[in-house]
Amino acid sequence: MFRFALTRRDAFLVLLGASSMHLWSLVLQGLNPSAAEEFSVVPFGRTSSSSALLDTVARTSTTTTTVKVATTATSTVTEKATETQVVESLEGWSYAQIDKLAELQSLSTRSDDVLPQTGLIAHAPGWTLFRNLYMTNDTLYIVTDKHFSTPSRSRPEYSRERRPEFYGPKGEDLTYGYTKADGWPEIRMMTSTGLSAVNSPENIASREPIPQNMQFIGVKEARRRWGEVVLTDEHGKKRTESRVWIVQGNSLLVNEPSQFLRHYYHLVAELFLGVQAFWHSAFTPAILKSESALPVHFSTNHTADAPPVHRTIFIHSNADGWRDGPGFNRYFLRAAFPSLTVEHEEDWQDRVAASMEGVKDGSSGERVWRFPVALLTDRSAAHRGGICGSETQRIAAEAWDHMRKEGKLRGIHVGGWWAPVREAIWKFAGVEVQAGGVIDGAQVAFKVGTNARVGNEDDAHLAHAHAVAAEEKGVVDVGEETQAALPMPSEIVITYISRQSARNRKLTVDDHKLLVESMDDLVKRKNEERKVALAKSPKDTIPPWEFRVLEAEHLSKDQQVQAAARTTILLGVHGNGLTHLVWMKPTRVSSVIEIFCPPGFAHDYWWTARSLGIRHWAMWNDTARTWPDKPNVDYPECFQQNAIPVHGPAVAKLVEDRIDGKL
Ligand SMILES: *[C@@H]1O[C@H](CO)[C@@H](O)[C@H](O)[C@H]1NC(C)=O
Ligand SMILES: *[C@@H]1O[C@H](CO)[C@@H](O)[C@H](O)[C@H]1NC(C)=O
Ligand SMILES: *[C@@H]1O[C@H](CO)[C@@H](O)[C@H](O)[C@H]1NC(C)=O
Repeated sequence: MFRFALTRRDAFLVLLGASSMHLWSLVLQGLNPSAAEEFSVVPFGRTSSSSALLDTVARTSTTTTTVKVATTATSTVTEKATETQVVESLEGWSYAQIDKLAELQSLSTRSDDVLPQTGLIAHAPGWTLFRNLYMTNDTLYIVTDKHFSTPSRSRPEYSRERRPEFYGPKGEDLTYGYTKADGWPEIRMMTSTGLSAVNSPENIASREPIPQNMQFIGVKEARRRWGEVVLTDEHGKKRTESRVWIVQGNSLLVNEPSQFLRHYYHLVAELFLGVQAFWHSAFTPAILKSESALPVHFSTNHTADAPPVHRTIFIHSNADGWRDGPGFNRYFLRAAFPSLTVEHEEDWQDRVAASMEGVKDGSSGERVWRFPVALLTDRSAAHRGGICGSETQRIAAEAWDHMRKEGKLRGIHVGGWWAPVREAIWKFAGVEVQAGGVIDGAQVAFKVGTNARVGNEDDAHLAHAHAVAAEEKGVVDVGEETQAALPMPSEIVITYISRQSARNRKLTVDDHKLLVESMDDLVKRKNEERKVALAKSPKDTIPPWEFRVLEAEHLSKDQQVQAAARTTILLGVHGNGLTHLVWMKPTRVSSVIEIFCPPGFAHDYWWTARSLGIRHWAMWNDTARTWPDKPNVDYPECFQQNAIPVHGPAVAKLVEDRIDGKL
């Protein structure tokens, strides 16, 4: 990697060059013109191996995925000017350094530095991390010198319905704006109109992005519009001015409306879990499967973290739109990211309006805002991806799985990539972090290749395809046997999140009672057994048991986090309260038991638990099912009603077997 071969300053300059991709194409052209051409049409994120040079590139970009090889494989600067390398070189960059980069670009007197091209740091459907993303009049612009074009007209989404905004005054089809560019994902995989989602063909079509949402623009055209604009003052004097204004810092642009944002689960365990997986991993070097890398996969200990996000802009939500009734979202955002600035659609519209003031009075034309580093998230675009769209319905799954396949999810078996957020919340809530589950990966005994099971996919066919791809690349999968290698907790805490005082989705009164009794009995018996065992051999470490019924509305937020952080087994009816699983500590037996009205099932907590290395059971009265024996998604009539059955003794037996290591 750069930092081994070059000084920071050199890395800076190379990075500047590499980001524009000029250096890259010049170098390639110098060596092999046809290769350069060929490379320019290789889709984003892939490399072709049809020439000797490209072989080198392909090898470089795959070998850099292990730290060890990367340090020996980087012999020349030319080899490093790939997109992968640009990303790698940001590894270990403090925020000040990224700031510095933006500053350097803006202070430069060269016109092409005022308007640097847009760079792609990382992309998965619905998750796109940009360098130098532009906005004017509510349209996001990607400035590129790559060839861009219109796609074929066979896309079915548009043919279903003739929407007026898809057509110009002369009947021209506006949906076929510049929506494709070499080396870039399709615009529909990055953004949407940001409208609310319902499951109808009309609504699906109405969420397809139109050119007002996002466009590619050539470097020359961008320069003409914003770079070197000729202005005439009131005395008729002409001068040239740049119309680019920089929004300093790292921005998170949330394009989805408040529809889902206003739920604790969707904001924290979906949006921000995905943001953390994507952002943290994008700035992290890849670590693949090998004995020597194992401690990292089991570690929650981070020495080099990603730069912070400074600003979140909810483009289509007002201040109310992302706040949930119980108030956990606002607690989370302030506790986990105390310095984060939050802007809303009003603030975005302020920027939109300001960009057009000069047009309004005819004096100076439009202004453009430049975001030096921006992560754009879009719910509809994520649902266009295969993993979210057809497997999990979880937008975070696209971000998580992309980074897993890249080998970039640090501490994958213990939610290590999530640990910075989890620990920030623990600290805020007064949880003792060290005791709360910081895991030193070096102490985890696990051998590569033993009973290796596949990942977090539910569809057997896709799971197989992913496993094959993962195996080829040597990426790490999540599986139960990895959890079995973790340390046991020092206490067994079973937390039952009761919904009995909620409006809907409750257990029958009798089943709730029996459940509480069964758990009380179990815990009493276990503690008696422990007493007897300790009397015999006082030196043994046998964890004490505890059972808690948690009614969230009667506890402060701090108390809820404290309870979650101590929880070994989280138990409850499907609902937002189970979101607390993201604050559980990773241990050998950490589990979520989610009660559904049979045959109900949803992916929310199933996927989320597994993404953090926590085992999940779906409980149907007296029957428990766990991965890979996954039920089908189903919302029977009784799903939301207040007569959900559960057989308490069956739950108690499941818990006992789990803690005893039988499951
Ligand atoms: C700015 O955007 C609005 C809404 O899309 C559009 O009606 C208007 O024509 C745009 N202004 C210019 C100058 O392009
Ligand atoms: C975390 O890593 C640092 C440096 O590698 C090490 O000194 C420290 O002991 C580790 N802490 C834990 C809790 O693993
Ligand atoms: C739940 O399971 C128990 C124990 O097997 C059984 O007696 C009861 O009838 C079941 N309830 C329902 C609603 O199926």
